[in-house]
Amino acid sequence: MTQTTKRETFSGQRAFILAAIGSAIGLGNIWRFPYTAYENGGGAFIIPYIVAILTAGIPLLFLDYSIGHKFRGGAPLSFRRFNRHFETFGWWQVMINIVIGIYYAVILGWAASYTYFSINGAWGDKPVDFFISEFLKMGDINQGISLEFVGMVTGPLIFVWIIALALLALGVQKGIAKTSNILMPLLTIMFIILVIYALFLPGATKGLNALFTPDWSKLSNPSVWIAAYGQIFFSLSICFGIMITYSSYLKKDSDLTGSALVVGFANSSFELLAGIGVFSALGFIATAAGQEVSEVAKGGIGLAFFAFPTIINQAPFGEVLGLLFFGSLTFAALTSFVSVVEVIISAVQDKLKIRRSKVTFIVGIPMMIVSVLLFGTTTGLPMLDVLDKFVNSFGIVAVAFISLVVIVSNEKLGMLGDHLNETSSFKVGFIWRLCIVLTTGILAFMLFSEGIKVFTE
Ligand code: PFF
Repeated sequence: MTQTTKRETFSGQRAFILAAIGSAIGLGNIWRFPYTAYENGGGAFIIPYIVAILTAGIPLLFLDYSIGHKFRGGAPLSFRRFNRHFETFGWWQVMINIVIGIYYAVILGWAASYTYFSINGAWGDKPVDFFISEFLKMGDINQGISLEFVGMVTGPLIFVWIIALALLALGVQKGIAKTSNILMPLLTIMFIILVIYALFLPGATKGLNALFTPDWSKLSNPSVWIAAYGQIFFSLSICFGIMITYSSYLKKDSDLTGSALVVGFANSSFELLAGIGVFSALGFIATAAGQEVSEVAKGGIGLAFFAFPTIINQAPFGEVLGLLFFGSLTFAALTSFVSVVEVIISAVQDKLKIRRSKVTFIVGIPMMIVSVLLFGTTTGLPMLDVLDKFVNSFGIVAVAFISLVVIVSNEKLGMLGDHLNETSSFKVGFIWRLCIVLTTGILAFMLFSEGIKVFTE
């Protein structure tokens, strides 16, 4: 049946802001930012980070919002309305979200399992061995898929897919916005308690010193600046369709730039909070083991599934810490995951013009099957690592670069700026356009240097 109803909308600006914050705050904030900052100059990283927010993060959020809101479509439709030859670039954005969605769900499933393990202490006193040999059953291909494995990995993966698809089928306001409306305040409260708790652990100051002591010499290293821009792109979910899609559901008279400033500020505050919490906890295990923080500091999978279970084992009221940490990771990842899949749903719905529930099924079920076949089996981890590295270091940057090149070359930035200024509180002009052109150049440089790395490594 063809759908002729109007495009869905968020009930208001608050609903939109919470959904956009829900998308922005994810694994990038909790497990990526602290280690990226630590590795790239500690306290000194704040300078490239702030420069990246002001020159790329906020201006590109404005840009994404202006495109989605003006053209009122998912990424491909918005690009087509921008210029009828540009639809393909929107589909590229959809493609990268398909790849991200397929593996983001896996980590979400693991986080959900580990929330439960925090209570029953399933990882025992050797969390690393547990994760590799018992949880993921790596190197145990002969065993095939056991019931235990299905219970710990495959089952939760299917479960998170079903939850996310059910929320998406409910729609923009009843599904996406309502979820963020509940989970974002909850996440904030849980995370603040977690950080306060971590700050009182013995050795916390040692961790904070390691994170915040500035290494100014790093500022002359271009890779530190690349890391800051990369972090901002990943963390704010900019330039690959997510924010275009969400803003296309905003009512006509919305304050676009004002919303973007709130989203950017909330995202960075959360990142900083995560840095404090994570490094306080790392300081605690370093002190307990008589080691330096550098010996225990990790990001990503190593932080969440190796270091944190060890911390939880040793900390007073470890179960509470575990629930707060893995619960936060689960909630943060769920609202981000939903936004990634929504890009695809919205694009397909624009194209096929059929009901959302049908599109959710058509898009979601094949993605879930691929996700389960690739990662719900005992051989998934190495592939997840490869995909994650590819997306992070290359995929997002390449897609963002191409989108920006086509937008800038079309010389319609002025028109998009006018659109922003029509209803927004914070007005944009020449500096905004300059930032976008400069960021396009920076992305070209990032792509070039990543390309060189690929060939020389
Ligand atoms: N911005 C979110 C995060 O920081 O985890 C979610 C996200 C979505 C990140 C898509 C990266 C990505 F490619």
